[in-house]
Amino acid sequence: MIKWIRRIVGGLVALLVVAVAALALVISRTSDCPPPEGASLDAEMMTAVIYRCYGSPDVLEVTEVEKPVPADNEVLVKVRAASVNPLDWHYMRGSPYLMRLSSGLGKPDDPRMGVDFAGTVEAVGSRVMRFKPGDEVFGRGDGAFAEYVVVSEERGVVHKPADVSFEQAAAVPIAAITALQALRDKGELKAGQKVLINGASGGVGTYAVQIAKAMGAEVHGVCSTRNLELVRSLGADHVWDYRNEDYTESGETYDLIVDMVGNHSILKNSRVLSDNGKLVLVGGPKGNWIAPLKRPIAAMILSPFVSQELELLLARINKGDLKQLAEYLESGAMRSVIDQEFALDEVPDAIRYSEAGRARGKIIISSD
Ligand SMILES: NC(=O)c1ccc[n+]([C@@H]2O[C@H](COP(=O)([O-])OP(=O)(O)OC[C@H]3O[C@@H](n4cnc5c(N)ncnc54)[C@H](OP(=O)(O)O)[C@@H]3O)[C@@H](O)[C@H]2O)c1
Repeated sequence: MIKWIRRIVGGLVALLVVAVAALALVISRTSDCPPPEGASLDAEMMTAVIYRCYGSPDVLEVTEVEKPVPADNEVLVKVRAASVNPLDWHYMRGSPYLMRLSSGLGKPDDPRMGVDFAGTVEAVGSRVMRFKPGDEVFGRGDGAFAEYVVVSEERGVVHKPADVSFEQAAAVPIAAITALQALRDKGELKAGQKVLINGASGGVGTYAVQIAKAMGAEVHGVCSTRNLELVRSLGADHVWDYRNEDYTESGETYDLIVDMVGNHSILKNSRVLSDNGKLVLVGGPKGNWIAPLKRPIAAMILSPFVSQELELLLARINKGDLKQLAEYLESGAMRSVIDQEFALDEVPDAIRYSEAGRARGKIIISSD
């Protein structure tokens, strides 16, 4: 009887191993680039950046595609500026591989690139009530690296404050919403509390420093020597130079750590958190398989054994938060730090620059 049970268990384990190996092979397979799709004869055309297969920035094509037509509930926006996020090159590479379960096995299901945009409404669908042609807007729309983008009225699009430039607004959506949701929703930051922003000079970090100050916190930022002045100028009360100092060895304690880098273990972070402090994991090491999963898994395992809360953030774009960020921009409580601007046909270079991981604030694709 025991022999039979052993055989059955052994068989099941072998089946599981084969199934996992087969799944790993399927999701890591990268197909060759398929031929371009033809446009309908009477279609209006526009310039856009697309990718028909996964790979390095060399797979990006600046080409003519059909100009989108808004559905009843959609807004057609002439893009005046867009911004680059690490999300763009994660999609371009289909990495980590697990994301291919939603972005497409072998090759991308959707060839459009870019997410964050700001621009002018050109046309609206018949059921759109809140926007009209000529309105200046910003938000999140698939295919923002293009002359035009369509976006559902109900989803990520709001009016841009008149005094705020298209570039300043286009920089905001993903990075600033991530900062806001990390501090307010996961971190539950209160005025007077002490927060540490690890990765304070990047896209998310430059907003996080300013939003935390606007929320009344004492803000400590971690960046390299060349960015100390920048992070101070955003309102940080103290800056750690990661090239020469290690905040986890500092003896300081924080109510909240927002971590965009993931270069210190969770246990090391917990040592500089107050007893009921919170660690919010936003970003971490790159990799196709295990590297990006290590910290979330470690947080899950360690959670019952530490007094602090370990939270994983998956930011979600929504109108309410975009409006809140528009108010911060309008009031001057927050500005977008713009590192470099590229033209639409230079998107491959902009993505290469973002992938290098040294951006100071945001990278803009400008149409003006
Ligand atoms: N969970 C979510 O929903 C979500 C949303 C958005 C972004 N993310 C992730 O969050 C991370 C940050 O995004 P981002 O847009 O801010 O990226 P980014 O703009 O590319 O970040 C670049 C910045 O990171 C700094 N940096 C690099 N190594 C550092 C270190 N050891 N210590 C401190 N700073 C360091 C660089 O400064 P130096 O050049 O001076 O080193 C640079 O200013 C990424 O991993 C991204 O994928 C997650």
